[in-house]
Amino acid sequence: MQDVSEKRLPQHIAIIMDGNGRWAKKHKKKRIEGHRRGAEAVRIVVRACRELGIPYLTLFAFSTENWLRPYEEVSGLMRLLKQYIQSEIDELSKNDIRLNVIGDLSSLKKSVRRALEDAMKKTENNRSMVLNLALSYGGRDEIVMAARRLIQDAKEGLISPDEVDDETFSRYLYTAGIPDPDLLIRTSGEFRISNFLLWQCAYTEFYFTDVFWPDFTKEDLLAAISEYQRRERRFGRTSDQL
Ligand code: FPP
Repeated sequence: MQDVSEKRLPQHIAIIMDGNGRWAKKHKKKRIEGHRRGAEAVRIVVRACRELGIPYLTLFAFSTENWLRPYEEVSGLMRLLKQYIQSEIDELSKNDIRLNVIGDLSSLKKSVRRALEDAMKKTENNRSMVLNLALSYGGRDEIVMAARRLIQDAKEGLISPDEVDDETFSRYLYTAGIPDPDLLIRTSGEFRISNFLLWQCAYTEFYFTDVFWPDFTKEDLLAAISEYQRRERRFGRTSDQL
């Protein structure tokens, strides 16, 4: 068992769930089977975060760039997502977990959007944890969307340029009201941020593992948290100032 202290737990963990396709290839299965196993890993990690008392978990489930994948894979992923929401809604409710979606919901198929909106509504009063699903999400898109809304508000006289600082700007992002991630995990041995939470990761600790997402377990999560707890976060200051 990994050595994790209850005292310095990350308040927000974000995960780039990568390697479903390579997992499938390794096991001589179709890519969609990798995603299906990936959805199982999502269940395990959501449960583990809830047990540990992590208040925010953000999962990168589908990027704006993922629309470019073959039609069969995109529709398979959407189907999986809908199934996941429908099968997990009771467990999320029972465990006091609020489901939230960040990204361009309007680009999703109506039936998927409806399932998500329904689940968000049903869980809106839950307080123990927020499960944030990033769907049709792109970090640059999010910043551009926020800038547009900010300019619109300025045009309408609701905000003036000198009121705009990073705190105000954050309120225009999908993640308004959610603290920045403390820990970002990326699986499958890639060392990129891939347009995920670009603004929010300014001071996030990154953790990379070779494990393919479908193989990711509670032990792997604890290993990431344990490593996080050994890091010194200085936020631009010196060690002596902390
Ligand atoms: C990256 O693996 C993963 C995705 C693009 C999708 C993530 C989706 C899931 C884990 C399943 C459904 C999600 C939920 C929330 C139930 P990849 O296909 O890029 O892998 P590769 O780089 O090995 O090809």
